[in-house]
Amino acid sequence: MHIPTLIARKRDGEALTPGEIRSVIKQFTSGEMPDYQMSALAMAIFFRGMTDEELAALVDAMLHSGSTLSWANDDPMRVDKHSTGGIGDKTSLIIAPLLACDGLWVPMISGRGLGITGGTLDKLESIPGFNTQLDEQRIREILAEFGCVMIGQTADICPADKKLYALRDVTGTVPSIPLITASIMSKKLAEGLNRLVLDVKFGSGAFMQNRADAETLAAAMVRAGEALGVATTALLNPMNEPTGHSAGNALEVAEAVACLQGRGPSDLEKICLELAAAVSNSPRDVLAKRLRDGTAWERFQRMVEAQGGDLASLERITAVHAAPVILDVRAKESGQIIRMDSRQMGLAVLNLGAGRATAGGAIDFAVGCDQIAKTGTQVRSGDVIARIHARSTEAAAAAAETILSGVEIR
Ligand code: URA
Repeated sequence: MHIPTLIARKRDGEALTPGEIRSVIKQFTSGEMPDYQMSALAMAIFFRGMTDEELAALVDAMLHSGSTLSWANDDPMRVDKHSTGGIGDKTSLIIAPLLACDGLWVPMISGRGLGITGGTLDKLESIPGFNTQLDEQRIREILAEFGCVMIGQTADICPADKKLYALRDVTGTVPSIPLITASIMSKKLAEGLNRLVLDVKFGSGAFMQNRADAETLAAAMVRAGEALGVATTALLNPMNEPTGHSAGNALEVAEAVACLQGRGPSDLEKICLELAAAVSNSPRDVLAKRLRDGTAWERFQRMVEAQGGDLASLERITAVHAAPVILDVRAKESGQIIRMDSRQMGLAVLNLGAGRATAGGAIDFAVGCDQIAKTGTQVRSGDVIARIHARSTEAAAAAAETILSGVEIR
């Protein structure tokens, strides 16, 4: 296979064969194909797109570039949900134990924060002792006992995606629907799932800024999942305002705990129930009951304990991670909140230190924002519309300015 010819064919709009795609991913993963050729091919894919057949082959090749979780025929059904990322999105923490109460297995592999969007792994690691790097034997043991396990991508799961994502990040090829689809679906399908629900966000705080692009991405991911034998559903959800009332690692864990204890904000509970119902054996009212009667909370605690997390700290997570400066953000006028922009909130929380400034950098679990008011709320001038948790008064003031620039009251 002559790689320059293959790149040129893709550049000119020709489809590659599944065999060619498999070979490219194999050579790229092993290092035989240099990064500059892969970058050129990624750019050709960015402009030319991929056919369904090409995309299914790419997902399959990437998912088989490393190890996958494997299951026995008599193991329970494996299900999962994946969100394309948002602000204040702590749904994974609630959905994994909720689905496990159904007798399903949820081997959830999650990621870290990306840009302004938060990551499930970072949130979980705010629980002292919680270990997200488990070997396959331990993953199986925890699933057999509790039905859910929440872990990070290991070095041997989808190494092709790790390499390709790093290249895309620096070559302007991240926002390509086939490349996003292959990246997300290869990692999710490496879990050996039977059913998958995708939470595809659109809006100011999402990867996809408008609904039409989110629909295209959702349809591509569903087709790729189905082509590889996984019953895949996608729900489109707006991300113009943060989910729930909090954004920031420990603050979000506290809100997820409240939701698991049946005291969650209504928008958070609603989206969790909708997503869970899409892959569950139980109807929504049964799932709602499990959130409200403590069944899902009990399951979450057992999983946290099994993964080394300290339960006493979990119950007082915002005291364990307490930021020294608390600043109220107040409404500048009276009226109805018509915008509480999630992008501005995401930027503010990232700059407070809840996300990373450099790859592999440290994050601050304590900082963020809570008491975030929802759009539609009537407020009077001076009412608290958010509360900032910061390391310094300067950082808090900068965050307040960023947040207020995304607030509109009329
Ligand atoms: N998340 C991923 O894992 N990959 C992408 O390409 C985009 C979001």
